[in-house]
Amino acid sequence: MSFSVVILAAGKGTRMKSEKPKVLHTVGNASMLHHVMEVAKRAGAEETVIVAGHQAELISEAAKIKSPDAQIVIQEKQLGTGHAVKQAERLLGKSGKDILILYGDTPLIKSETISKLIKARKTCDIAILGFDTKHPGMYGRLVSNGENIIKIVEAKDATKEQLNISLCNSGVILGKADLIFDLIAKIGSDNVSEEFYLTDCIELAAKGGFKSSLVFCDEEETIGINSLEELARAEKLFQKAKRIEFMEKGVQLTSPETVFFSFDTEIGKGTVIEQNVVIAPAVTIEENVTIRAFSHLEGCRIFPNSKIGPYARIRPGSIVSEGANVGNFVEVKKSIVGPKSKINHLSYIGDAKIGEKVNVGAGTITCNYDGVSKHNTNIEDGAFIGSNTMLVAPVKVGKSSVTASGSVITKDIPDEALAFARSRQENKIGMGKKLMNLLRKQKNKS
Ligand code: UD1
Ligand code: CA
Repeated sequence: MSFSVVILAAGKGTRMKSEKPKVLHTVGNASMLHHVMEVAKRAGAEETVIVAGHQAELISEAAKIKSPDAQIVIQEKQLGTGHAVKQAERLLGKSGKDILILYGDTPLIKSETISKLIKARKTCDIAILGFDTKHPGMYGRLVSNGENIIKIVEAKDATKEQLNISLCNSGVILGKADLIFDLIAKIGSDNVSEEFYLTDCIELAAKGGFKSSLVFCDEEETIGINSLEELARAEKLFQKAKRIEFMEKGVQLTSPETVFFSFDTEIGKGTVIEQNVVIAPAVTIEENVTIRAFSHLEGCRIFPNSKIGPYARIRPGSIVSEGANVGNFVEVKKSIVGPKSKINHLSYIGDAKIGEKVNVGAGTITCNYDGVSKHNTNIEDGAFIGSNTMLVAPVKVGKSSVTASGSVITKDIPDEALAFARSRQENKIGMGKKLMNLLRKQKNKS
């Protein structure tokens, strides 16, 4: 069954105490809005309409980055969830399709859950996603006649008996667009909040002879984020789920609770990740890689059988090829490290292309920035870079060439050459001892 999604994101999010619109706060390094849009897309939504209000421009911008054909409608005044959905009528009212309603501040919902809702919709008019909880708090309560849901009562408007109901409304519903918009047209704002509640549709539907069915989900999946504390809780749940997902795929996490993933992290089987590793967005780690403790990776691809860290930082635009080693206190930025090459200690490699089986000695730095522009360093296969070499870019180090330690390389090095670029050492016989004696004498006099 084809359906469109309406994502409600007009609320101000006052309790976030932040300048940023609520739905642009991130979980796993992607905005909550991004998560919700992705879930709808995965579940098969054909069209996406986002209801924005506060800072609508920022929301529109973020939505278009995620999916250029997303449509934005503006809800000028936040008069309630029913009023918010109504804003999408112009675009979806005559579609003849179903509409799925999601909240922009509910980022952990799963596409499998939406699929269940789609299945349930085949035998009812409106499918409602709900959950059973010991702590129903401020959630809307689902009132049933023993068979179907006949009403949703907001906690604020509920009687004492209704507050005892443990079945709660997640906010997610799926139904035929024209039916939902017809029902919305009939709802009023005669309630404690004086808002047009979307949830009132259910009672109107029941009265009109339409059937609403309940689909259960996990309470954690539908937590709505209203404060930074709740955002941190969502992050915790997101990370926990990612850790389990990767371990089930055969990724070994030595201390799972200390490893942090992003929404788009990809990791192959047989990879081992040690303690305290942070994986920022756009990282792909292939099979049988070892990421040692305290490493930070972002925007990079790590090929099989390579080793990263401990204490390595791999920055955007980097590729670490098969069997390469990037060791402790090494920073790699926008560079390719060729197969079986080694950069084992204390180096900065930026805007560089390193060939196969290159050995980069401790303390090597690619001086890639002249204060105005960035320049490239090209180190060809089999080169040996002596410790503490400064490679002043743009510069090319030829195949199987060698740089003497401590060199400041400013000119290209031909293949197989040995480049010295430092002052020669002189040994003055006996002078060391003489110098020390002189210094001691001077100290005693003063
Ligand atoms: C809503 C439900 C409640 C459910 C709960 C689940 C209603 C009336 N109540 O309550 O039954 O248990 O979610 O989390 O629907 N929004 C707009 N425009 C508005 C009002 C809200 O876009 O005029 C957006 C908000 O930005 C938010 C979402 O709709 O993303 C939900 O609104 P919120 O006010 O948080 O609803 P709850 O009181 O949590
Ligand atoms: Ca809410």
